[in-house]
Amino acid sequence: MPTVIPPTIEVHLTEAELRTAMETDVRDGLTATPKQLPPVYFYDDRGSRLFDQITRLPEYYPTRAERSILEAHAKDLVLQADADVLVELGAGTCAKSRVLLDALRDCGRLGRFVPLDVSETTLWAAARALAEEYPGLEVHAVVGDFHRHLDRLGADRRRLVAFLGGTIGNLDPAGRRRFLADLVATLSPGDRLLLGTDLVKAEDRLVAAYDDASGVTAEFNRNVLHVLNRELGADFPTDRFAHVARWNAAENRIEMWLRSLDASRISLRDLDLEVAFAAGEALLTEISTKFTPAGLEAELGASGLAVESRWTSDGGEFQLTLARRP
Ligand code: SAH
Ligand code: TRP
Repeated sequence: MPTVIPPTIEVHLTEAELRTAMETDVRDGLTATPKQLPPVYFYDDRGSRLFDQITRLPEYYPTRAERSILEAHAKDLVLQADADVLVELGAGTCAKSRVLLDALRDCGRLGRFVPLDVSETTLWAAARALAEEYPGLEVHAVVGDFHRHLDRLGADRRRLVAFLGGTIGNLDPAGRRRFLADLVATLSPGDRLLLGTDLVKAEDRLVAAYDDASGVTAEFNRNVLHVLNRELGADFPTDRFAHVARWNAAENRIEMWLRSLDASRISLRDLDLEVAFAAGEALLTEISTKFTPAGLEAELGASGLAVESRWTSDGGEFQLTLARRP
């Protein structure tokens, strides 16, 4: 019987670094037109818990659709990927990683799992639970940013890099090009990317997934203001910002905004900054791009990845793509 191996953790984001990055991002974002914030600041402990609730909402189909594809095809894809190490970017609670780890165990390939996330508490809890659940598995958690730390994920063994949840859709086209170029530069020939992407579909279904009836998504969206109030001494009246989810048909993406109900001046004490909101002015907090299979294959191809297999959920909502670095 394999024994439980204690997990290890590697931290590439120090408090000081996080702080400097947040100060720069928030100053740049709130002085831009339109005002905007990078999505990474949603995910403090409360934000990570709220996101976990989102994944269980009846309206939020992507998590269930993606899990159903994994359950149906994990074994095939693990055999195709022929990897010694499973890396996962933006792994969060690692809920879906378990389906891949089960398949690896069934194929006798359970070796090493390297989840990366910015949320240290969530990641550490997941790493400890996984090490217990999968005796014999080495879990090496990396607290880092997938825009900056892709080169810290070990290149000595054949890797399968999972990027699930449609998170790549939270990047704009230039951001995706940069991300994929950085990733490809760190992959060795034969390494694979397993990419989860949401697909274009009827607008009402998309909007509902990002504006649920119980208001969890609204609370998640507003959480970024709670984070700025706490971390930067800001005074956003969070209940005076309305959650807006709209479909941008020209860009094939859902956009999340926070609309100020009043004209207001917000002070961010630690930045020595004041920003004015007009009544009705909105702050862009997240984009969630929806893809077509052809568009996705073109993007991956342009970045130097060859699509080997793709699987779609039964209702055609979501796609998993396995692509290889030639
Ligand atoms: N993969 C999970 C979670 C998706 S939510 C799923 O499919 O359900 C997005 C996750 O990415 C969160 O856990 C968040 O903390 C993490 N994240 C967001 N921006 C990140 C960044 N720049 N670098 C690393 N992790 C990031
Ligand atoms: N990656 C997820 C997605 O685009 C993130 C997400 C889900 C999200 N619901 C949200 C981000 C609401 C901001 C607001 O589907």
